[in-house]
Amino acid sequence: MSNYHIKHLEEYYQVYRKSVRNPEIFWEEIAEEHFMWRKKWDNVLSWDFTKPEVKWFEGAQLNITENCIDRHLHIRGDKTAIIFEPNNPEEEAQHISYRDLHDKVCRFANVLKEQGIQKGDRVCIYLPMIPELAISVLACARIGAIHSVVFAGFSSSALATRINDATCKMVITSDGSYRGAKTIDLKGIVDEALKECECVETVLVAKRINTDIHMETGRDHWLQPLLDEAYHDCVPEVMDAEDPLFILYTSGSTGKPKGMVHSTAGYMVYSAYTFKNVFQYREQDVYWCTADIGWITGHSYIVYGPLCNGATTVMFEGVPSYPDFGRFWEIVEKHKVNQFYTAPTAIRALAKEGVEHLEKHDLSSLKVLGTVGEPINEEAWHWYDDNVGKRKAPIVDTWWQTETGGIMITPIPYATPTKPTYATLPFIGIQPALMDENGNEIKGNQVDGRLCIKFPWPSMARTIWGNHQRYKDTYFSAYENKYFTGDGALRDEVGYYRITGRVDDVIIVSGHNLGTAPIEDAINEHPAVAESAIVGFPHDIKGNALYGYVTLKETGESRNQNNLRKEINQIITEQIGPIAKLDKIQFTNGLPKTRSGKIMRRILRKIAGKDTSNLGDTSTLLNPEVVQDIMDNAL
Ligand code: WTA
Repeated sequence: MSNYHIKHLEEYYQVYRKSVRNPEIFWEEIAEEHFMWRKKWDNVLSWDFTKPEVKWFEGAQLNITENCIDRHLHIRGDKTAIIFEPNNPEEEAQHISYRDLHDKVCRFANVLKEQGIQKGDRVCIYLPMIPELAISVLACARIGAIHSVVFAGFSSSALATRINDATCKMVITSDGSYRGAKTIDLKGIVDEALKECECVETVLVAKRINTDIHMETGRDHWLQPLLDEAYHDCVPEVMDAEDPLFILYTSGSTGKPKGMVHSTAGYMVYSAYTFKNVFQYREQDVYWCTADIGWITGHSYIVYGPLCNGATTVMFEGVPSYPDFGRFWEIVEKHKVNQFYTAPTAIRALAKEGVEHLEKHDLSSLKVLGTVGEPINEEAWHWYDDNVGKRKAPIVDTWWQTETGGIMITPIPYATPTKPTYATLPFIGIQPALMDENGNEIKGNQVDGRLCIKFPWPSMARTIWGNHQRYKDTYFSAYENKYFTGDGALRDEVGYYRITGRVDDVIIVSGHNLGTAPIEDAINEHPAVAESAIVGFPHDIKGNALYGYVTLKETGESRNQNNLRKEINQIITEQIGPIAKLDKIQFTNGLPKTRSGKIMRRILRKIAGKDTSNLGDTSTLLNPEVVQDIMDNAL
C-alpha cells in the first residue's frame, strides 16, 4: 500500500483512518519519503488553536525550489515543466523543460539579489499569465524572499493597498498584457499605484506587448537585459520549515484585504501530496489548471504542487472566449491535456455557447476533470460530465480556500464515487466538523451546519501579515478550538459533504471572493451617495452577481440615475477592479436597519433574489416602511 498515491476507495479509507489516528506519524512518513530536506525536523507538529499557533516540521531546513526543480534534473531534466500557451493561438506555444526552468529561475534569482533583495524581503508580483510569473515566484522562493502575487486585474488602488500592507521593496510587472482582443496597460497601473507606495525601491519590467512606456530613471529596469547578464546558477537559500514562503491577499467581510501568510515546509508537503492524489497525476501526463497564478489555485496547483511532482503544467495567458468559445477545447486537443481543472463560472459560460465548440475537438486525452471556487450547480456539473468528460473522466469538485493552502474536501478520482454538487469526502488528514448556532458540533449524517476544521493540516495559513489578532478573530474565535471556514455545508446519509456557500458577507462572483465592506466604502466615496449596501443575487454564469442598494444624499438636484450608476461603477473599478462592478443598482430612500443600526442584509438579499414570499419579521426594524418601498422599486 502506498500512502502517497491512493487508487481505490478502500485504500482511501485505510489511509484516511491512519492519517487522523496518528497524524504525526502519517505526515512524517509522507515528508520523509517524497521530499528533499537539507535537515530533517525535530518535531512534526505543535499546535494551539487558542493562540493560534501551528508549526509543522519544526527544525527542518529546505528550499522549496530544490524540490520543485533541482531534484528532477537528473531524472527528467528534458521533460517539459511548463507549457506556455499564449493569448493568441497564432503565437507558438513554449515548452520549458526542467533544465530550462532551472536556468531561468536561477538567473532571475540572481537578478533579484543584484537588485538588493534579501531573504525575508517582500516582493510584489503584478504580472499577466506569462512564464515570467511562474519564474519570478520561484526566483523569490529560491532566495527566501516572500512573494506577494497580486492578480493583474486589480486596480492601481487595490495594488497600492497590498504593496503597502506588506511593505514590498520591489514590484515585478510587464509593459502590458493581452486579454483576448484587448491589451491592458499594466505598467501604467503600477506607476499610478506607486505614487502611494514609498516602500518600493525597484520595479522590474518584463516585455510582453512591446509598447512605449514610461520608465522611471533609477527605479524601473527592463528585465531581459538583466537576465541576460545574470549567472545561470544560484545556490538556494536554506529556509526553516516555518519561514514564510508567500503572502496572498484574500477579501474579508470587513476592512482591508487579509494577507494570508503561508509557510514553507507544510505548504510544500500538502500542496504536492494533494496534487498527486486529487489529479491522479502520472509521469507522462499533461496537466492544465485554467486559474490565474494571482489566486491560490494558481499558486498551489499551477506552480508548487505540479512542479514538486515533476509534472508538466500548462499556463494559459488568454481567456476562454478568444478567439472563440472553442479555445479551451482547442488547447486540450493541442497539448493532449489529461487533467483539466477549472471553475464553475467558466463551465457555465461555455455551456451557454452550446456543444458545437466541443464537437470540433478531440477531448479523448482527458482523464480527470476538476472544479473549484464556488459551489457547482447540478446543471453545470452534468454538462461538464456529459460533454467534456463524456462520462468517462470523473469530476473532482474540490473545496478549499486561500487560507487552507490546499484542497480539503474532494473526491479522489477513480476511487471515490462522485455525486453531482458534492465535494464528497475530506482529503487525507482533514477533520471537518459541522457546528450549530450554539457552538456545538453536530454529529451524525443528514445534517447541516457551519463548516469548521478540528485539527491542523500542514498547509494552513499561519497568520495574517501584520495582524495576528485579526487572524485569531476571523478564524479561531467563532468556535472554540476549531478553524472556522466561513462556509456552510451539509453532510448526507453516507457522509458526503456539500458546500452550500458563504455564511458571512463575502460574495463569490465568477469565483472571485469579494467582501461587501470595501465595495460599499468605494461607493460611499461618491459625493452624491449617503449610504449603500451590497448583496449577491443568483446569476446564470457568474454564480452570483452584485446588487447595490444606494441611498443618495438629498442634494435637491435631480441627477440622471443612469449616469450615477456609471459613476458608481467607475469608482468601484478604480478602487477595486472591474470584477467588483455591480450588475444592478437600485436607488432607495433608506436601508432597512435593526434598532442597533445594523443593515439587515438578509432582507435585501431576498429582495435582490426575487424571493420575497417570506421576509420574516420586519416589525422589529427601526424603519420597517422602507422595505415595501424597496420591494416596489426592485430591479
Ligand atoms: C468557495 C479558492 C463550493 C468557498 C480555492 C470558499 C467552494 C471560498 C468550492 C474560497 C467548491 C471554493 N464548492 N464552494 N468546490 N471551492 N469554494 O479563497 O466559499 O478564492 O470558502 O479559494 O470559495 O475561495 P478562495
